[in-house]
Amino acid sequence: MTSQTSLNTARNRALALDQADPLAAYRSQFHIPQTTNGNKVLYFCGHSLGLQPKNTAALVQQELQHWQQNAVEGHFTGARPWLSYHEQLTQGLAELCGALPIEVTAMNSLTVNLHLLLISFYKPTAKRHKILIEANAFSSDRYAVSSQLTLHGYDPETSLIELNPRLGEDVLRTEDILSLIEREGHAISALVLPGVQYLTGQYLDIPRITQAAHQQGCVIGFDLAHAIGNVPLQLHEWNVDFAVWCGYKYLNSGPGAIGGMFVHERHAQRPELPRLAGWWGHDKQTRFTMPHDFSPLLGAEGWQLSNPPILACAPLISSLEIFYSARLSKLRAKSVQLTEFLYGLLTAHCPKVSVITPSDPSQRGCQLSLRLAMSPSKAKRIYEDLALQGIMCDWREPDIIRVAPTPLYNTYFEVFTFVATLQSMLK
Ligand SMILES: Cc1ncc(COP(=O)(O)O)c(C=O)c1O
Repeated sequence: MTSQTSLNTARNRALALDQADPLAAYRSQFHIPQTTNGNKVLYFCGHSLGLQPKNTAALVQQELQHWQQNAVEGHFTGARPWLSYHEQLTQGLAELCGALPIEVTAMNSLTVNLHLLLISFYKPTAKRHKILIEANAFSSDRYAVSSQLTLHGYDPETSLIELNPRLGEDVLRTEDILSLIEREGHAISALVLPGVQYLTGQYLDIPRITQAAHQQGCVIGFDLAHAIGNVPLQLHEWNVDFAVWCGYKYLNSGPGAIGGMFVHERHAQRPELPRLAGWWGHDKQTRFTMPHDFSPLLGAEGWQLSNPPILACAPLISSLEIFYSARLSKLRAKSVQLTEFLYGLLTAHCPKVSVITPSDPSQRGCQLSLRLAMSPSKAKRIYEDLALQGIMCDWREPDIIRVAPTPLYNTYFEVFTFVATLQSMLK
């Protein structure tokens, strides 16, 4: 079969898969940007900033109007009184995390939440004061963890342990993670690892790693920025100690959206656990009597500091309604098929592309990270040319193109078009 014939076959298969897609209608619930000539952009950047649901503007507008019409009374009146507004986010977030409602809350942004939880969970002692992260950790996680070490009087040079992929490899091997934990665990106080790694798209084996960390007496927290809304999670069952996330990627809640956190029930129910305190984490019964003594709420809400930004919570309500309706299990089933379609087409038609994301669908979310067999400057030009043709993926230094077909709004035909365009550019 010639390359053109097999591309034609792929095109027909893409059309057939879109026809049969039970989730296809969700695409129409999102605003899809247009190119200057009026065509819809092929948007593969849900791993960076998710698209805006069409219902979001109305929900934000509703709260603006509530404020216009009721001012301070808006805290107590209307369909969603502001005093308890954020509580409406809890059930949906709990479902996405595989958590009990008491274990999650929407608040702040990811790095702020990471600091708040490290304050509670990083309890260094002379013998056990190290923190383990991955060498390629997202910069903000590294800064947060290093500054926590410094705050406690430790030097990141010696107290930060870094997990590296093997020489010449891009992704971490689970057995290497487990053996490092076994070797160094006695000196490690806390581990902070990604659920899905931002650069490679690797979905770590959270339950096995968590179990290994606990066997060594360490606490473990996960950065779920690239995991929530992307892959199935069972944080409660997996016994994860804590987790944090942001809301602007797969949660489609807008730039700088409200983030969230998970604290396992066995910690969340312990008011004596030290924490940084603020009035919104205080017992609701006495919050407005302004007592001098802080009495934390049970559950993740006990880590809240301030009253939540309602205008930032509204987009998350809109997004969670879509997840509730589509169901994460169905989205994941489509996501596996959509990304596998991309993987198969790239392998068949683009020999100059190597996919650094694991080939096993259970070890990745929707994102594939690509490296092109050419100099980084030439590869970057390819990425820029794709953008000029209305195909939005992203470039990560030094040489990675990230492409994330998301099951809520991407189609198989878009994936086909991406690969056909890339193939003709690489010829
Ligand atoms: C993996 C990862 N961790 C942390 C962050 C930082 O998030 P925030 O700005 O909400 O603190 C990001 C942001 O993109 C991220 O991708």
